[in-house]
Amino acid sequence: MSNEQYRNTDKRPETAVRRKRRSRREDILLTRLKAVFCMILFAFAVVVCAKAVQNLRAGGKKENEPQMTQMTENAAAKTTTTAPDAELAGKNANSETTPPVSEKEPKQQTEHKTEVIDGITYVDGVMIANKSYPLPESYDPGLLPETQEAFNKMAAAAEKDGIYLFISSGYRSHFEQKVIYDDYVYTDGKKAADTYSSRAGYSEHQTGYAIDVNNPSDSFRGTDEAKWIAEHCSDYGFIVRYPEGKEKITGYEYEPWHLRYLGKKLAKKVEASGLCLEEYLGIDSKYSK
Ligand code: DAL
Ligand code: ZN
Repeated sequence: MSNEQYRNTDKRPETAVRRKRRSRREDILLTRLKAVFCMILFAFAVVVCAKAVQNLRAGGKKENEPQMTQMTENAAAKTTTTAPDAELAGKNANSETTPPVSEKEPKQQTEHKTEVIDGITYVDGVMIANKSYPLPESYDPGLLPETQEAFNKMAAAAEKDGIYLFISSGYRSHFEQKVIYDDYVYTDGKKAADTYSSRAGYSEHQTGYAIDVNNPSDSFRGTDEAKWIAEHCSDYGFIVRYPEGKEKITGYEYEPWHLRYLGKKLAKKVEASGLCLEEYLGIDSKYSK
């Protein structure tokens, strides 16, 4: 084959010089490849390290974040905000929670943790039933044992002071509340009924934590029983749920007979705050329609 032919086909026999040149070119190429590979490796290592540091920081923060309140274990909770503290308030809600505190700008306003579990709203672990937060129609716990036991203790203590207390209305199902409310609407009209009776699904009586004691009517105001309750009920874990002067916030007229069980610690805190439960938990109580 002539040189001309070799030039076209590039199939000339490799001479020692060409072999050396090729070997050098390959060495250079290999060195460059190694350099590129090292750079990629280095960049990867930097990214991995940065991620690890980030995760370590995030992990540290998580320890200070509020713990999920112990409610129904299989329920999917929707957390909307974070909370300062919580004591027993709902059946399964009993954890103390601490808000994540910003190191630079401490929060002025108290934040609260709101969770919706199986259609029930808990604020700082407290089960809520008011005009803004209804309960599912199917929620049907009956009067809860802790409510009954706390009442029994309170009634026993009251009796020693010559005060006779009894539960005139405890748990009310969705249906029972509907019958009661509809009757009031029939008698007084909807606007008036809404000031003293809950629509079905919105009554605290459906939570299993609420009781009416003795005579649920205006004539109960100022009685020895009402006074005794106001003074002592928090010692047994209850609050007067619809206090005088808070009508616009609770959405209901003053009801000295309607008690809500919160557990002793929280009931004491709410009472000491001078706030109604809505104010204490930073929520409102308004029907949407
Ligand atoms: N009387 C209270 C507001 C109720 O009906 O639940
Ligand atoms: Zn009541």
